[in-house]
Amino acid sequence: MFKTSLTTLLFVVFLSAAIHGATATQAQSAAKPSAKPNPKLMVAAGQETFNKNCLACHALVAGQVGFGPNLNGELKKPHPRKTPAEAKTIIKEGKNKMPAWGTKLSESEIDNVIAYLKTV
Ligand code: HEC
Repeated sequence: MFKTSLTTLLFVVFLSAAIHGATATQAQSAAKPSAKPNPKLMVAAGQETFNKNCLACHALVAGQVGFGPNLNGELKKPHPRKTPAEAKTIIKEGKNKMPAWGTKLSESEIDNVIAYLKTV
C-alpha cells in the first residue's frame, strides 16, 4: 500500500485537473436545473469545487499568503471586497495571472463556488 499524504493527494488532484482541463474531476452541480437550489448543498458543492480548482492559489485562512489574493472575507457580509457579480466576471474570464474558468466550470459550479465564498 502507498502512504500518500493529504497534501500530495491534493497536489496530484490539482495537477490532473489542470492537465485534463478540469473536466474529469468536476463536482456535480448541487441542483438540477428545474429544482430549486438548496443553499446548503450549493455551499457544500462549491467548497468541493473550490478545494479542487482554486485552493492551490487562493488561501482562505486570514493572513495566509498564496499565489493569488487571499479570499478570506472577499464576499462576506457586511463588508465584502467585491460584489458576487464582480467575482463571477473574474472567475469566468480570468484576470492577469488568474486563469479563466468559464469554459472549465459550469454556470452552476461557479454559482456554487460564489455561494461558498460568501461563507468564508
Ligand atoms: C493559477 C493560480 C490561480 C488559480 C488556480 C485560481 N486563481 Fe483566482 N486569482 C489568481 C490571481 C493571480 C489573481 C489576481 C488577479 C489580478 O488582480 O491581477 C486572482 C484573482 C481572483 C479573484 C479576485 C480577487 C481580488 O480581490 O481581486 C477571485 C474572486 C478569484 N481569483 C477566484 C478564484 C476562484 C473561484 C478560482 C477557482 C475556480 C480561482 N480563483 C483559481 C490566481 C488563481
